[in-house]
Amino acid sequence: SQKKRKGSIARRFRENRASFRFAAARFRPTLGAMRRILVTSALPYINGHIHLGYLVEAIQTDIWVRFQKLRGHDVRYFCADDTHGTATMLRAKSEGRTEAELIAAVSADHQQDLAGFGISFDHFSNTDSDASREVCHDIWKALRAADMIVEKDVEQLFDTQEGIFLADRFVRGTCPNCKTPDQPGDNCSKCDATYTPADLIDPVSVVSGTRPEVRNAVHLLVNIEKLHAFLDEWTQSGTLPSESANYLKNFFLTEPLRDWDVSRPAPYFGFEIPDSPGNYWYVWFDAPIGYIGSTSEWCAANGQSLDDWWKNDHAEIHHFIGKDIVYFHTLF
Ligand code: 2FM
Ligand code: ZN
Repeated sequence: SQKKRKGSIARRFRENRASFRFAAARFRPTLGAMRRILVTSALPYINGHIHLGYLVEAIQTDIWVRFQKLRGHDVRYFCADDTHGTATMLRAKSEGRTEAELIAAVSADHQQDLAGFGISFDHFSNTDSDASREVCHDIWKALRAADMIVEKDVEQLFDTQEGIFLADRFVRGTCPNCKTPDQPGDNCSKCDATYTPADLIDPVSVVSGTRPEVRNAVHLLVNIEKLHAFLDEWTQSGTLPSESANYLKNFFLTEPLRDWDVSRPAPYFGFEIPDSPGNYWYVWFDAPIGYIGSTSEWCAANGQSLDDWWKNDHAEIHHFIGKDIVYFHTLF
């Protein structure tokens, strides 16, 4: 009868994938307990198409998710588009549509491309959702309650023609160290010096081509030094793959950790910070929260509890990410 069963699964697989899932669900693993596993791929930016690098990550994730589902575990795969930031705002403006319209159109393209490569999410959302906003509010409230937020005056270059503060990559100028012209706002491609955009000689706004001026604005920062011991311990606790844990050791050696800037002044496309009108959460603040927002939407539609997935000691969370974002991902 074992043989007959195997034959029947193979036949179902040939017939179609949906019925194979049904077969897999019927034959729960006989060895070990069923695991609850939440899986995510890094959130693709809304500002561009899905590229091959991203597909490599998403296909790897999808293969792993299918494998765990076939083993009979309780697995869900969540993702979302990463939508906030100045770049989205500028692109929507230049294309004469709202950010919401841009997000809807590009996200549909993303989902079509990913589906075309056979990647199958349990839910794919975007970080501009109500669900994500709600989780941002909760996390912010908790940070405030723990007295983790500080305010500081931060100097940034301001494009007076566009009326916007410029992120590092929107400024170019001459390297203050080796004097090579046309270098980005954060580090020199010739001599590798790092600096702030305000240090550039003859800075030019990439957006308007005009010379930006230095302006001060209040920013909200997380006092992550208060979490130093926790970060040290947690990142070295065996929870992370050893490569990531070793890489992160370098960052947490710094004494003390610098405050982490999580806000941007208006105009900025994002969620306005509830207790700081005119300031918005920086895109990296709400990006990882988007994983939770996406889960939350799926829970609402499927009669599940968010806490059973995110605040459950018996649930596993697996993030598939590129090594270039290990640092940001860990902190946020
Ligand atoms: O690096 C990136 O492409 C980001 N959009 C990834 C965000 S993933 C997560 F942390 F939210
Ligand atoms: Zn240089």
